[in-house]
Amino acid sequence: MVNVQSIRQDFPILQTEVYGHPLVYLDNGATTQKPRQVVEAMVNQYYHTNANVHRGVHHLSVVATDMLEQSRETVRKFIHAASVDEIVFTRGTTEAINLVASSFCQQEMQAGDEVIVSAMEHHSNIVPWQLQAERKGIIVKVIPITDEGILLVDEYEKLFTPKTKIVSVAHVSNVLGTINPVADIIRIAHDHGVPVLIDGAQSVPHMPVDVQALDADFYCFSGHKVYGPTGIGVLYGKREWLDRLPPYQGGGEMIGTVSFEHTTFNQLPYKFEAGTPNYVGATGLAAALEYVSNIGMQAIAAYEAELTQYALRQMIQIPGMKIFGPLVNPQSSIVNCQLSQQDGSEVQCSRGSVISFLVGNIHHLDMGTLLDRLGIAVRTGHHCAEPLMHRLGIEGTLRASFALYNTLEEVDALVAGIKRVASMF
Ligand code: ALA
Repeated sequence: MVNVQSIRQDFPILQTEVYGHPLVYLDNGATTQKPRQVVEAMVNQYYHTNANVHRGVHHLSVVATDMLEQSRETVRKFIHAASVDEIVFTRGTTEAINLVASSFCQQEMQAGDEVIVSAMEHHSNIVPWQLQAERKGIIVKVIPITDEGILLVDEYEKLFTPKTKIVSVAHVSNVLGTINPVADIIRIAHDHGVPVLIDGAQSVPHMPVDVQALDADFYCFSGHKVYGPTGIGVLYGKREWLDRLPPYQGGGEMIGTVSFEHTTFNQLPYKFEAGTPNYVGATGLAAALEYVSNIGMQAIAAYEAELTQYALRQMIQIPGMKIFGPLVNPQSSIVNCQLSQQDGSEVQCSRGSVISFLVGNIHHLDMGTLLDRLGIAVRTGHHCAEPLMHRLGIEGTLRASFALYNTLEEVDALVAGIKRVASMF
């Protein structure tokens, strides 16, 4: 059970007023707010146990190193990886995908080889592959989606050729909220002998994730979207893959021995962690994962589903409202509900806690700016998914994205805000 009023006490920023209104923060897909427990863990480390890690025999360095490795264990447990050696700390999801794209292409791909991504990817899961396409001549193939934003799994299967070397898709779309059937995507790829990278930036904060149950070869996420600090994220990789791949960056920590003639590389996971790692960020991330684990990821998923259903039921009734993302043909779900549309017909809805929408001809920037004047923070624009916008034939949307500290009253404020702004046009 999520005790939202007690949870809100842990997030001082939620007391903020914006233009004389209580802040209604619904931009959690972009970043989440931080509980005291995360900030205090980081402040305590800076005040009491700060020293560089893996480099000193002195007391503070040993303590800081132990803390970093304990944080790695917390991450391992959270996503149920088999070993801490499979947990690489990165700057975030983006760096994790760049790491895999770079190291995997260098080792495993030749000109003409293919990577499969989907039409609903964030730029961070498109551009790293395009960079490799330019450098190495690999080919990027795209899984098409339906108008409702559901991956066409049959079409996906048809994309495989002997040249397909890797698949890289989002677990949950940051725009549509679609929860992709990643277990099926992985199984199909494995039937073709192809590994899969899953972008978990929008899934890990909202649902239990078990990388072994999914059989993911690589899985990544960002700390700041799961109530942790910015500048820290995680790449999970199966040991057999991480062992095979070359380092991404060179520097301290990632080496075994160095001479001007020859350098050997450190063991996993340090081979991929060049330079001083963001060890205080790792402490904050571990505190965040402990925080959500204490509440329970199932409970968080159920509570966010309630918020999202509650929002959708009201939003779908607003004249001129167009909601993007799956409202039909559910494949997998957090939110799985029946909705009555304005014309009285019923639709099935299946999605995560993200709602992208437009109202009539009102420009998303205009509505976003006016909602802000009411204290309501939503994201506007293309959400770093321009190819998806092209597919949907739009320039951008408004996006409300929920987190565990949002309330039904805040959903009411959003709905009332949308109606009020719409009435001004
Ligand atoms: N990827 C983040 C979002 O979707 C920034 O808002």
